[in-house]
Amino acid sequence: MKNDIMNYALEMANPYLLGAFAPVYEEVTAQNLKVKGEIPQDITGVYVRNGPNPRFEPQGHHHWFDGDGMLHALHLENGKATYRNRWIRTNNFLEEEEANTALWQGLMGRFSANKDRPWNRGVPLKDTANTAVAYHNGKLLAGWYMCGDLYALDPITLETNGVENFQGTFDAKAMAHVKVDEHTNELLFFDYELTKAYIAYGAIDHSGKLVHFTKVPTPGPRVPHDMAITQNYSVLMDLPLIYDLNVMVSKGKAAPVFKRELPSRFGIIPRYGQASEVRWFEAKPCYIYHTINAWEEGDEIIMDCCINPEPTPQQELPKGATPEEKLNAYLRLNAHVYRYHFNLKTGQTKEYALDDRGTEFPLMNSQYLGRKSRYSYNQHLDLSEVLRFDGIVKYDTEKQTSDTYWYGEGKFGSESPFIPKPNAQTEDDGYVVSFVTDQRNDTSEVVILDAQNIAAEPLATIELPQRVPAGFHGCWVAGDRLFHE
Ligand SMILES: [Fe+2]
Repeated sequence: MKNDIMNYALEMANPYLLGAFAPVYEEVTAQNLKVKGEIPQDITGVYVRNGPNPRFEPQGHHHWFDGDGMLHALHLENGKATYRNRWIRTNNFLEEEEANTALWQGLMGRFSANKDRPWNRGVPLKDTANTAVAYHNGKLLAGWYMCGDLYALDPITLETNGVENFQGTFDAKAMAHVKVDEHTNELLFFDYELTKAYIAYGAIDHSGKLVHFTKVPTPGPRVPHDMAITQNYSVLMDLPLIYDLNVMVSKGKAAPVFKRELPSRFGIIPRYGQASEVRWFEAKPCYIYHTINAWEEGDEIIMDCCINPEPTPQQELPKGATPEEKLNAYLRLNAHVYRYHFNLKTGQTKEYALDDRGTEFPLMNSQYLGRKSRYSYNQHLDLSEVLRFDGIVKYDTEKQTSDTYWYGEGKFGSESPFIPKPNAQTEDDGYVVSFVTDQRNDTSEVVILDAQNIAAEPLATIELPQRVPAGFHGCWVAGDRLFHE
């Protein structure tokens, strides 16, 4: 497959299949990896990252989001590191593997070519589970950005164990960004359909069963990408970036429209609340890909996130722009860190920027998810050619300061989870990890940084046996959750 995909990438001049984005073709297990510096002995767990990695030569124009989901994982224990990567064997992946060719066209392809395929609730696209990954109740759960099946994978071997149906209690789909409250081991999720005017919201309990599900009406179909949780509430988002499925199917175009005349709306629902209990808060129009965290404080719910005030291309594309140029225009994320206050007593919203630097793909200490937090670890956006991450920005939202670790010339990183020390004294008492790819020599490494001194040289740099392509979301699964939950 290697030559087929490379020839295709060069022929189409598709930047999202070349350089740091080029797919890998081998599934590797490599133990006792070479380390520069020292892996701290108090780190035990697995760093996992999801991302697109096409298995076969694409049919039609390839969009970065189309690639088959692949997990890359670094298992750290006793100062040693093991690397694995595996494709997520979704039903559609297995179907294509059986046929030994790509069967689906993607976001920039001809949807009519997919007419004989099993569409995902009216969406004529392959559910690749390539977007995010979370850990709950002994399983990794990989999901897709258009709401699809959640696939369960073994956190150590990365073996796919099929579609997760939560012991037969769950027959919905879910958005990839599920939220796990590590204090209660509940999993909160949302679901939407491109033709239906609602956002569904639900909860899975610590034993892995669906225990709550409600459909929250919206003025039309909506495509939220993320949500937030506090200890007692969840925050759902009705944002004015809208896909019209009819246009998508009839004209074969998947471009979203930003309706700037509409407000952004945030629906606050008690963790086990019904749709009738949602309280809506209005704010300026924008799109939000990713929240950082939310928590309760007095009468307010405070939510930190990365907002895109202008989520669609600002400049007219030149006539005759190639599909690849259009793709790049949409991926020029114009995002920065932002805070909302939703006052449950007065119903008022207060909103303001916390910073103006271009960052996205935020992660924080997951033990503080839903509780007041101060630090966030975001990817600094390099938009010089294509969307890449050239550094990690640690925000201190209390002091309103930031520190940056730069990956270095020609190097691009991945969404970077925080690893708490076993007896951490403060929120940032721990480490930050990232898969880093050096585009100049086609290699990758993992850096382990001291979270309290993030700009310093890494504590450890771990050599990987193959390049890790640029990807989407990652998480840290702490050893005590892996082995004792
Ligand atoms: Fe995402």
